[in-house]
Amino acid sequence: MDQTTAHALEAPFVQTFEQGNVGRTAMEAGSPPLLSITGLTVVLADRPETRLLDAVQLELRKGEFFALVGESGSGKSVLCSTIMGVASSELRCLGDIHIEGRRLSDVDRRQRAMIYQQPSLYLNPVRRIGFQLRETVQVIDGLSKKEASERAADLLRDVGIDDPNETMRKYPHEMSGGMNQRVMIAMAVAMKPQLLIADEPTSALDVTTQKQILDLLEQLRSDMAILFVTHDLGVALQRSDRIGVLYAGQLVEIGRADLVARTPLHPYTRALFSAVPPLSGRPRRLHSPAGSLPEPTQRQAGCNFASRCSGTLDTCRHTRPALQGIPQQMVACHNSEA
Ligand SMILES: Nc1ncnc2c1ncn2[C@@H]1O[C@H](COP(=O)(O)OP(=O)(O)OP(=O)(O)O)[C@@H](O)[C@H]1O
Ligand SMILES: [Mg+2]
Repeated sequence: MDQTTAHALEAPFVQTFEQGNVGRTAMEAGSPPLLSITGLTVVLADRPETRLLDAVQLELRKGEFFALVGESGSGKSVLCSTIMGVASSELRCLGDIHIEGRRLSDVDRRQRAMIYQQPSLYLNPVRRIGFQLRETVQVIDGLSKKEASERAADLLRDVGIDDPNETMRKYPHEMSGGMNQRVMIAMAVAMKPQLLIADEPTSALDVTTQKQILDLLEQLRSDMAILFVTHDLGVALQRSDRIGVLYAGQLVEIGRADLVARTPLHPYTRALFSAVPPLSGRPRRLHSPAGSLPEPTQRQAGCNFASRCSGTLDTCRHTRPALQGIPQQMVACHNSEA
């Protein structure tokens, strides 16, 4: 099972962000945030100067589909597992995470569910799929065993499994990665969470199943907030209300999906979107610009993107830019007009 350990968050840490309506769209303004993250910094416990996340600030509201993009190693999974309260014991989390105004440690775990990148971290290897799914449904919906079996079968059909009764008799190791991924999605949906975190949930699935899963999430979103990590810019643009771009542990751009697609302000976002026009219908996998993401141990003061950027100014090398702009689109760049 899950080998990670929950870690309570501590008092607010360094705030490099300007306070403001980060992540708030006009549509959502007015309703209180379901998820509120302030100054979230995640460091290695034994090397606190190494930051995996740097002062992340984000608000999500009920009904919102938020896409998080960024190249491999940018910190997407660290952010997801920290919000879930299951960050690795090697990490130390500083900052604030609130759900409906309450500290993460005071909130019922069942209010949030996560679809993990690796189903093997989540599914119990010694329990049949049917047992695991039925157990969840029985707890959440208070159903009898027979009713729970029927509900479990329906959930499996919803994620594109045509032979649910056969699948429920199997153990995770008897199924492909894609099938386990679907089971995990069904289990997360069965939790009826207020916050659903999906860490690249569809990358192991074929295109038809991907669409089926995304359509299912679309139906469910009115009752929850969805944080969806993806490498597919097309999915991000077509499905999400807002997009956040994570680079080297920092949210470098966040805004309404249409604005970020039409006028990306950060040079990194521009590079991502220029590689393949995202709405062209062609393959839209995230394409990184030349150069490489600095490892967490090699991150310097100043902008983390400076070494890959064509518009680097002197100030970029020594001052980390803060997110700023209008609520609908914010960017952390000293030279976003370049
Ligand atoms: N427990 C840990 N101890 C040390 N470093 C870690 C730990 N967990 C993650 N990291 C490092 O943190 C950085 C971010 O990792 P993370 O898994 O969040 O990236 P990601 O954006 O999810 O990448 P991918 O797209 O490949 O899933 C990486 O450099 C990774 O090596
Ligand atoms: Mg990841």
